[in-house]
Amino acid sequence: MAIKPPEGRPTPSVQDIYAQDSRPAPDVLRFESPPAGLGTEDISVERYFDQGWHNLEMDRVWRKCWQMACRVEELQKPGDHVVYNIGDESLLVTRTSKGEIRAFVNACLHRGVLLRTTGGCVERFKCPFHGFTWSLEGKLAHIPSQWDFDHVNREEFSLPEVKVGQWGGFVFVNFDPNCEPLDSYLEILPKHFEQFKLEDRYKAAHVCKVVPCNWKLAQEAFIESFHIPVAHPQTTTYVAWDTTQYDIFPGVRHVNRMLTVEAMPAPSAGEVETDKTIKHMQRDVAFHARAKIEHGSQADVRNQFADSARDKLSKSAKRDLRGMSNAEVVDVIQYSLFPNLVPWGGHGAPICYRFRPYENDPERAVMEIMLLFAKAEDGSHPPPAAPHWLTEEQSWSDAPELGSAGFVADQDTENLRRIQKGLRATHKPGITLANYQESRIRHFHQTLDRYMGVKP
Ligand code: FES
Ligand SMILES: [Fe+2]
Repeated sequence: MAIKPPEGRPTPSVQDIYAQDSRPAPDVLRFESPPAGLGTEDISVERYFDQGWHNLEMDRVWRKCWQMACRVEELQKPGDHVVYNIGDESLLVTRTSKGEIRAFVNACLHRGVLLRTTGGCVERFKCPFHGFTWSLEGKLAHIPSQWDFDHVNREEFSLPEVKVGQWGGFVFVNFDPNCEPLDSYLEILPKHFEQFKLEDRYKAAHVCKVVPCNWKLAQEAFIESFHIPVAHPQTTTYVAWDTTQYDIFPGVRHVNRMLTVEAMPAPSAGEVETDKTIKHMQRDVAFHARAKIEHGSQADVRNQFADSARDKLSKSAKRDLRGMSNAEVVDVIQYSLFPNLVPWGGHGAPICYRFRPYENDPERAVMEIMLLFAKAEDGSHPPPAAPHWLTEEQSWSDAPELGSAGFVADQDTENLRRIQKGLRATHKPGITLANYQESRIRHFHQTLDRYMGVKP
């Protein structure tokens, strides 16, 4: 039996708007799966700062779950590699001479030095301390003073390796040799993204920053639209935040989504003149700044923003994207993949977030914002963006490649610091969540609890 959307959610619904669009959304977006039976319990606060909880997360989540290590286009030719760090773990994810992608533990088998501290392209992995060297296949290639290492069996002195998988142009790694296959771990994600084809994109921007909060808090601030009217009040004339559709799919553990309509005011903002919607959207969203919009109804305005976005995207990608729906070129189509990847489906806001602990500090996280642009028709694309690390003092706006996504993230960052401190100060043992608008957060914690072996 279909579950009804929540009573009280403002109208028109995302589905009503999609149905009226000049180019209606694809089938994968044309249904709702509202949360049901998730419960209403508070979520304990210790998990956001307790070192013991963090250490257990390292063992039970990060060493057990598939996690995105890099994009495939970063590993184009043999020797291209990326260093992926999580907690104490460090991996070399590399393209071998035979063209495979493999992931080796990034530590010298002599006296333990990290073989690489940054990505790049090498012929072999040579330790900077005494020069022990491994091939791109992880086989021992050179021992300095061989006469002094009679006791080392060259055949057995290979770099240890972890599992690797690929989906959507992402490379995933898993530290657990007995883990669930990536295909089943991804659940409904590949089917849903058949429409969005992230494998046909390339990483056009990649900005990283250490943020002053637990990695889960950072992620939670970006997977609900409930905070928009207070944290980003400038957007309510063109982001229909309060009609956002939240989907928790029955029996699905690792994936959920939200759909937020843009180029349309929030119903709770009252009567908004189309003039304002146009002006504010163009003021704030650089991508739409030059769109030529004639006045008309709110629906006309949305259709025109979509037309202009389709033209602009087709030109910049050198491929015909004019068949794309309004939703795909204007709206937020945001999925989560447990534990920490947040890929967006559309081309108008082609964002992908990743969140993870910063080293072993439960009160700091690495947050990354990537932009995934469409490749040209023939698959060609500019070189993928190298990670651009901001200092903790810098703001996201210091990374101009992010466009307006940077400004919005800056508005969230101050809140992150305050949540972290507030959760230490509070005398309440748990946080209380909205049943619908924060259902993705609850769903995340239920899956987290299962991995942690905690009773939800
Ligand atoms: S520690 Fe790597 S060669 Fe000595
Ligand atoms: Fe925000």
